[in-house]
Amino acid sequence: MSAAKATHLEILRLLRQSEGSFVSGSVLAEKVAISRPGVWKHINRLKQMGYEVQSRPRRGYMLVAVPDSLAPGEIVPDLATGWLAHSYHYLPTIGSTNDYALILAAEGAPHGALVVAEQQTEGRGRLKREWMSHPNRGIYLSILLRDLLPIRVAPQSSFIGALALVKMLREEFGIAASIKWPNDVLIGGRKVAGILTETQSDQDFTRFIVMGMGINVNHSREEMAGPFRYPATSIAIETGLAVKRQKVLLGFLHRFEREYERFLGSGFSALLPEIEQYSEMLGKTITVVYGNRQIVGKAAGISAEGALLLLREDGSQEPVWAGDVVRIEGGV
Ligand code: BTN
Repeated sequence: MSAAKATHLEILRLLRQSEGSFVSGSVLAEKVAISRPGVWKHINRLKQMGYEVQSRPRRGYMLVAVPDSLAPGEIVPDLATGWLAHSYHYLPTIGSTNDYALILAAEGAPHGALVVAEQQTEGRGRLKREWMSHPNRGIYLSILLRDLLPIRVAPQSSFIGALALVKMLREEFGIAASIKWPNDVLIGGRKVAGILTETQSDQDFTRFIVMGMGINVNHSREEMAGPFRYPATSIAIETGLAVKRQKVLLGFLHRFEREYERFLGSGFSALLPEIEQYSEMLGKTITVVYGNRQIVGKAAGISAEGALLLLREDGSQEPVWAGDVVRIEGGV
C-alpha cells in the first residue's frame, strides 16, 4: 500500500480513537504530517468509502458512522482467530473469490488465507452454475486450507463450513438454520448460503483446499425471488432487519476455525452428530438427482465419510456421494 493510501487509514484510526468527539484539523495534520487541506482531501476520501464524517468550523472532524464494509480495517481489529484470515485479501470487485484463492495458493499463500469480496462478476456454484453476487449485499469468501488430508476427506470441509454458519446463525441471530446435504445452508427450507469446495491434490493427499462460500445477507425479497434452481432467502428477509455483514463474517470465521480444529483433532465423526442434528432432511423423503439418475428415498443419515444414506422403498440402503437434492418432503 502506498504512503498516500495509508494516510486516510491513519486519519480514520485517529478519528476512531477520539470516540464521538471532534478532532481538530490541525491536530490531524500534525499527527499524520500533512497540510490541513491535505487532511480535508483524505476526509473526503473516507466519505467516498462510506464513512460518515461530520466537519465543524473551529472544531474539526468527528466520525459519526462507519460503512458495512468488509475491508480489513473493519474486520481485522476484531478478529480473535489463531490462524484463520491473518492473511486477509479484500477485493471490492473480483471475478470469483475461489479463482483468486486458487491463484494465491499456487503463489504460496499461507494456510488460513482469506479472500473476501464485496461483489463477484463471475461467481461460480457447483456444476459450473452461476452464483449471483449482488454488490455489498452478500458475503463472498474463500478460505485456503493447507493441511495434508486424504483426498476422500476433502469434501468434508464443505460440511465444516455449513456447520460453522448454521451455528453462527442459531447462536447470534436466533435463526433455526439447517444443513442441506451436501453443501447448502437453509432457513425455513430456503437457501441462504452455498458452498463450493475445490481441491488440488498429489496422488492420495490434498495439496490444498479452497472452501468458497456465498452468504445471502441483506438481499431483498425481490432480489431473492429468482429465477433460482432452489428457493432462496437472505438473513435480512428472515430477521426483518438490515444485518451488519461484519458481524456475520466475524461470527462465521471464529466458528469455522473452531470446527476445523475439532475436525483435525477428532475427525469428521466428532462433527457428525451436530451435522445430523441440524440436517434439513433426515427422516424425510427426498429426491436426489445425479447425472441422468433420479432416486427417491428416505434420508436415513450421513455416513462417517460424508455420503448421504438413502433408504429405498425396497428396504435397501444406498450411500449417495454426490448429487443435487431437488425435493424435500414438506419443503417450500
Ligand atoms: C452452490 O450453491 O452451488 C455453491 C455456491 C458457492 C458460491 C461461492 S461465492 C464465493 C466463492 N466464489 C465463487 O466463485 N463461488 C463461491
